[in-house]
Amino acid sequence: MSAKPHESAHLHVSGEAVYIDDIPELYGTLYAALGLSERTHARIRSIDLSKVHAAAGVVTVLTTRDIPGRNDCGPIIHDDPILADGVVQYVGQPMFAVVAETVIAARRAARLAKVEYDDLPAVMSPREAKAQQSFVLPPIHRVRGAPAAAMEAAPRRLKGTFSVGGQEQFYLEGQISYAVPKENAGMHVWCSTQHPTEMQHMVAHALNLQSNQVVIEVRRMGGGFGGKESQSALFACVAAIAARQLNRPVKLRLDRDDDMMITGKRHCFEYDYEVGFDDEGLIRGVKIEMVMRAGFSADLSGPVAARALCHIDNAYYLSDVDVRAMAGKTNTQSNTAFRGFGGPQGAIAMENIIDNIAREVNKDPLDVRKLNFYGRTERNTTHYGMTVEDNVIHELVAELEASSDYRKRRTAVRDFNAKSPVLKKGLALTPVKFGISFNMVHYNQAGALVHIYTDGSVLVNHGGTEMGQGLNTKVAQVVAAELGISLHHVRCTATDTSKVPNTSATAASTGSDLNGKAGQDAARQIKTRLAEFATTVFGGKIEEVVFANDTVSANGNTLTFAELVLRANHARVQLWSDGFYATPKLHWDRNTLTGRPFFYFAYGAAVSEVIVDTLTGEWKYLRVDLLHDAGNSINPAIDLGQVEGAFIQGAGWLTTEELWWNKDGKLMTHAPSTYKIPAVNDCPADFRAALYKNANVEDTILRSKAVGEPPLLLAFSVFFAIRDAIASVADYRINPPLNAPATGESIMRAVGAVRLQQRA
Ligand code: MTE
Ligand code: MOS
Repeated sequence: MSAKPHESAHLHVSGEAVYIDDIPELYGTLYAALGLSERTHARIRSIDLSKVHAAAGVVTVLTTRDIPGRNDCGPIIHDDPILADGVVQYVGQPMFAVVAETVIAARRAARLAKVEYDDLPAVMSPREAKAQQSFVLPPIHRVRGAPAAAMEAAPRRLKGTFSVGGQEQFYLEGQISYAVPKENAGMHVWCSTQHPTEMQHMVAHALNLQSNQVVIEVRRMGGGFGGKESQSALFACVAAIAARQLNRPVKLRLDRDDDMMITGKRHCFEYDYEVGFDDEGLIRGVKIEMVMRAGFSADLSGPVAARALCHIDNAYYLSDVDVRAMAGKTNTQSNTAFRGFGGPQGAIAMENIIDNIAREVNKDPLDVRKLNFYGRTERNTTHYGMTVEDNVIHELVAELEASSDYRKRRTAVRDFNAKSPVLKKGLALTPVKFGISFNMVHYNQAGALVHIYTDGSVLVNHGGTEMGQGLNTKVAQVVAAELGISLHHVRCTATDTSKVPNTSATAASTGSDLNGKAGQDAARQIKTRLAEFATTVFGGKIEEVVFANDTVSANGNTLTFAELVLRANHARVQLWSDGFYATPKLHWDRNTLTGRPFFYFAYGAAVSEVIVDTLTGEWKYLRVDLLHDAGNSINPAIDLGQVEGAFIQGAGWLTTEELWWNKDGKLMTHAPSTYKIPAVNDCPADFRAALYKNANVEDTILRSKAVGEPPLLLAFSVFFAIRDAIASVADYRINPPLNAPATGESIMRAVGAVRLQQRA
């Protein structure tokens, strides 16, 4: 298929693209703001809202008593109150909502509550949670083979700890919902969400309604990155509760600081590992225990833990493995989905181990990586029992190794470092293997509606949501290709729960796989009817009717697609259809943690070269080469954008983005002034991204592969290049104790530790 601009590109750049806050407001619209907890864990002894009520412009103040239905917005486990009920569990938890005539009036009033708290003991870190066995869910544990015996028998052993930080999604459009009461107890909510169906359920439960009374609509998000998979619910519910009570439209748009204080982020992880390997660096047995910061409630931490556990192998065959994942309950924001959904946190643990092994056996880390890669026909079952049938990591890495000139640059980097006492260069090539599908089998389904109008134009609606990733562009391309018409005749409409129901979140990178297939199914059904009609008019066989170049040919007659459509309509042929798709071959046993949770794998590899100033901890990119497997790409322009964007976002996670809570448990990095996401200047000047040619062996939509999340893991190469530069300080003999994010401070600490150890 072909590179096409994003369907909204011209609207994005001109400012015409409509986000929720751009929707023209209805007469009588009111604005909500939230009053937040100031304590990590406390009983609310008393709460005096008189000043809030009395503030200028305030219409009403809502507490739990104003919720007609259930005070809960937990996506899986019901431990997530919309508004705190008697107890607060983190600094930033919403306790009440103010509704006022203006946004500013609501926000000002929300600060005027007088709350008395009785503090309770709080757990502030994942390690503490583990020590206290404080978990939001039971830990999960998978053993394959005999890891303890394998490690015992291995010629070499290594043991250590490692950690990676969390990450704020930092969508440009913050969380927002606009609720409009409709006749006969209906509720329409425009909500910036990746999961309209779940928002519909949450709003219905909060208002005590049936699902058929609630409509959720979203044309696009200004980014989601996982942060709007479950956590848009609280805001949708508050807006809807207020709208119902006042019978007026109510909008809740968070200010950036409140957004960062309230919502969950990527889980930070702490690891304890032990590995046995041979003199070549081949892993014989490995044990990894990881504890993540779940925050105060379960949210999606269960599935995130499962994905982390399933990605601990990354691209490596682990014959004997013991892996445990624990979701530590902490008195902080409830962490949630973020691009990769635990996959990156699982995979980087093994990359760190491999990186360590390489220095132990005094080899180039790339050679140790290759040695441990999954085999093609043997050494090819994952620790969760799935056979890797589509492995291309050997070829892909070989191609990148050659195109990036890896070996020559390795020598050049060593030569440079030998002569440069302060500035040190680092180089790393890291691979990616990422499983595609939701672990939960029933999430892997989608629906679509395709309408053909009598002028031949086509309107597509599907259950997926557009967050900038280009889903609507791809689905429109699929439908256009199926009908043999130009893309400009096809238009996607807003996602709307009253059109396609019971949908999954647009997540796990499955958006185009699922909705593309559903759209194709719908288009194909209409096409079949049109072909049938063409043969009744012109004769010939249905299978021989050709749809191409905006025309239809049947039995030697050619007419335009629009002409055929009009004639079909006059002959009373149905010109619209639904479509459905359910991913085949999947099965997953949650108890044994085995099965085939993924339809296929996406692969990739990256080479990063950096230069680090060992006196200041500053660093910069020298060059980055990415090679990523998007299958038979539906849209190489969009896919390359996803690859580059994911890489930069991943690099931010591993280097500059640091979440920091003060001693009172307050997140202090709650704005761009203190939380550093990559900007244009933080991108490599020499940046070479390419797609790897590789049609999917599975029958996915046009043999493409999901591309939303997997390339985030390409950023591992940046972290390990920095680590490589630090290791050069002691001639690559000492493993730098570097944790992520590798901030300037953390780099300096690792350099210092390496120097100290070298002297000892
Ligand atoms: N790209 C943009 N521009 N904005 C986003 O919010 N989210 C990512 C990825 N790429 C995101 C994005 C995440 S977390 C996922 S799961 C996928 O897109 C979801 O969309 P897809 O399944 O259609 O790829
Ligand atoms: Mo993406 S983290 O699956 O929304």
